[in-house]
Amino acid sequence: MNQKQKQARYRRIYDQLNDLLAKPGNRLSRMATIVAVLHHKMDHFFWTGFYLLDNGNLIAGPYQGPVACQLLEKDKGVCWAAINQQKSILVPNVHKFPGHIACDSRSNSEIVVLLKNEKNQVTGVLDVDSKSFDAFDETDREGLEKICGLIY
Ligand code: SME
Repeated sequence: MNQKQKQARYRRIYDQLNDLLAKPGNRLSRMATIVAVLHHKMDHFFWTGFYLLDNGNLIAGPYQGPVACQLLEKDKGVCWAAINQQKSILVPNVHKFPGHIACDSRSNSEIVVLLKNEKNQVTGVLDVDSKSFDAFDETDREGLEKICGLIY
């Protein structure tokens, strides 16, 4: 999939999610819908899910893919780095990321974007892993950040 095709796919997914999420639900059901659509429409997504801040911990929320860690050790790994730096993080090779938490040894690259509430406070992250190295780029970051904006 080239850049143009990927951008077009994110646009279609966003439009589909916008319709789906307009129906009654809550934050958790919206997250579940988002990961289901993303995971099945994006070939390079091996694990797709949310980690949510809960009493200072990062706990697994809705996800699709292999079974993952339920609790991420504080201030360790990519998800906590995104929370602590308050920004999205792209990791082309997870094996070179200090402290990376390997929930599944088949993951080779990863992207983490912030999930915020209506007050712009960070409430968790959307985390996607790929079996390919260097699978994520700015198009993924933009697309996923925009999609996270659908959760309110
Ligand atoms: N690799 C993540 C942990 C979550 S799994 O990728 C599903 C991290 O280092 O925070």
